[in-house]
Amino acid sequence: MAMPASRNIAPAPTRTTAQKLLDWYDIHARQLPWRHPPGAGCHPDPYRVWLSEVMLQQTGVSAVTPRFLRFVERWPDLSALAAANEADVMAEWAGLGYYARARSLIACAKTLVDQYGGIFPRTEPELARLPGIGPYSAAAIAAIAFGEQTIPIDANILRVVARLFAIETPLPAAKGAVATAAARLWPSMRAGDFAQALMDLAARHCTPRAPDCAPCPMRADCAAARHGLAATLPRKATKPPRPMRHGVALWVVRQGKSGAAGGAQVALITRPARGLLGGMRALPGPPWQVVAALPAPPELLQGRHLGRVRHIFTHFALTLDVVAADESALPAGDAPPIWWPLDQIDAAGLPTLFARAAALARAAMD
Ligand code: ADE
Repeated sequence: MAMPASRNIAPAPTRTTAQKLLDWYDIHARQLPWRHPPGAGCHPDPYRVWLSEVMLQQTGVSAVTPRFLRFVERWPDLSALAAANEADVMAEWAGLGYYARARSLIACAKTLVDQYGGIFPRTEPELARLPGIGPYSAAAIAAIAFGEQTIPIDANILRVVARLFAIETPLPAAKGAVATAAARLWPSMRAGDFAQALMDLAARHCTPRAPDCAPCPMRADCAAARHGLAATLPRKATKPPRPMRHGVALWVVRQGKSGAAGGAQVALITRPARGLLGGMRALPGPPWQVVAALPAPPELLQGRHLGRVRHIFTHFALTLDVVAADESALPAGDAPPIWWPLDQIDAAGLPTLFARAAALARAAMD
């Protein structure tokens, strides 16, 4: 077996090391609404495990927990989610990361109901064939919900394993060595508990910047702790800076007609179904441009500049200038806007970027 690029002066961590972590987990496991406590004698509901794994891909446990509870109250099982109104699910997803994940969630629920009799398959390869379930999630669901002997490696587990074995190869090249090391470490029983124990250790003690090694149950076996390297691992290859894009969001408000729809209304659009924030409601504006430098606010479209919102997407950093304008500024050729009651803007399901732009505009117009 190829050995990872690691400092192997002392014996490498083994399955005995793993048992120390499981013993720690039996006492210190976090109580989370998609889990069963260790020793419960049965596995948690795969629907809840799957949903939590999708939510946790981009958002941390403390932010996910209340959102998870609200989601399962609304759609408590696969059949409820398969029958859900897609726009309602998308609105509920606001702030939980890419909307493509929410769309895949619905597609996966429908596939399971239509083709699997509403029952999750239990093996990693079968799970990985379902919409939106990638290799990590398939391994995590198989281990946690079904007790399969799989090895899910997310960024947190990768960090702990890279430290335990002092793997100094920079990412992403380190992934192969981490997978090899994890396979040596992983216990043959309680694979799901072990994954979650690593996650809890990573969240509590083996944190990215300032690891707190003293309480770690595996400290004596940790090569990085022994060499004073823990805070520096895993190493990252230096990344080129993200390209910049610039956009303008128009804040166009009109007075509604009297009666039930009276009161101020703001112009919203629905973004094209495909692409970034696809199918989501948004503020209108011209297409975003790739820029080398940001334009100064006075060079913007006609209108009153209200402020700027910055948002980091995976492949670029966006700066959005929010501009109050009248109806004549709405891009020609776009579908007519949706005139949304201003006092109900929070119910529009705007994705975080546009919710922040709307909050900025409302504060500036007050
Ligand atoms: N992150 C991803 N999956 C998790 C889980 N099951 N528990 C805690 N954190 C997680």
